[in-house]
Amino acid sequence: MKAIRNVGRLFTPGHEVRRDVDVLIDGERIAAVVPAGTGRGDDDSFDCRGALVTPGLIDAHTHPVYAAPRLEEVARRAAGASYSEIASLGGGINATVASTRDTPIEVLQEGARSRFSRWLEQGTTTLEAKSGYWLNHTGEIEAVRLMAALSADPSLPRLCVTFLGAHELPAEFRDDRDSFVREVESWSEEAAGAGAQFCDVFCDQGAFSVDEARAILLAGRRAGLGLRIHADEIALTGGSHLAAELGVASADHLLRIGDAEITALKRAGCTATLCPVTALNMGQLPPARSLIERGVPIALGTDHNPGTSGTTSMSLVVYLAVCEFKMTVDEAVTAATWGGARSLQLHDRGLIEDGMLADLTMWDADHEGAFAWEPGLRAMAVWRGGQLVKGSS
Ligand code: NIG
Ligand code: FE
Repeated sequence: MKAIRNVGRLFTPGHEVRRDVDVLIDGERIAAVVPAGTGRGDDDSFDCRGALVTPGLIDAHTHPVYAAPRLEEVARRAAGASYSEIASLGGGINATVASTRDTPIEVLQEGARSRFSRWLEQGTTTLEAKSGYWLNHTGEIEAVRLMAALSADPSLPRLCVTFLGAHELPAEFRDDRDSFVREVESWSEEAAGAGAQFCDVFCDQGAFSVDEARAILLAGRRAGLGLRIHADEIALTGGSHLAAELGVASADHLLRIGDAEITALKRAGCTATLCPVTALNMGQLPPARSLIERGVPIALGTDHNPGTSGTTSMSLVVYLAVCEFKMTVDEAVTAATWGGARSLQLHDRGLIEDGMLADLTMWDADHEGAFAWEPGLRAMAVWRGGQLVKGSS
């Protein structure tokens, strides 16, 4: 039995913070949380010296495999150009698709690997990771396979892989949308076999319509994939209602939604995954308080991608959820742990309770208020399945 000793404050969603405890770990799981100094002695223990420990953070929305960020475009947007304008001029997702298709897979894999280790360094132990920068059969399946392979590396965070073949209409299908939609539908089964757990669609103005998204998501469901959707980010086009109709696990972004959409999401039991860095980048905030007040469970994501969000720091995301979305610290940390697990339908993490995976983060603070004080609070130690993967005693 391993022990993480002298936790000054142990934050776990749904419970009062516990002070001065030890976390006992058996193999890769939490065995017990006991008052400090009362657990069975063991040489293999780590002294937290009174620091704050939370479940390892869970990033519920990322696009991590791509050739290079589109920085020139980001600067143009900062000077007033819109995301849609840039995309219609050949920039946006299709620009990343062109450069990603031209880059050897080994190079992309190394890029993804180094990003994944940054996530872990910053206290994230699970992240959702989407394909979507090939938009062709071979590339999309290869992306899924690459991420599934990296997921087995115990020095990286755990990955939950999402097949996003419908991220954008690729240039070569500009005059034949229907054929592309049918193509993506036909890839789902292989994506599931290659290690994808979810199917996602960018359902929005300039991307895919509600009818197209429905067809693709239903094909994903037939292939055994869970469902998530990019909904109502750029314009209110009906993605949230589709999310509710299909009972998806997660409806993401939701920058443009109103009361009717919130009611539909609540009824359907969908988790709302909000991405504050993108929201700020796009200049539009989602109705986070209304979602919370109406009882819609919230998850948070960095939405790391080459166009609208370069961060890999979930503690920065928690900071922004508090300061910009007006969530309480408790709500934001809960969304970044339990909420993420719920949105990914992973019931073995996101809480510090007996039997859960021992995925934990110790922070450079002795109180969770620090998340709202220091943008990007530093992780000092990280455990994945009971193994210390960052920090030293
Ligand atoms: O979640 N909205 C679609 N996908 C990303 C943006 C991807 C990109 O611009 O490359 C997002 O914001
Ligand atoms: Fe996204």
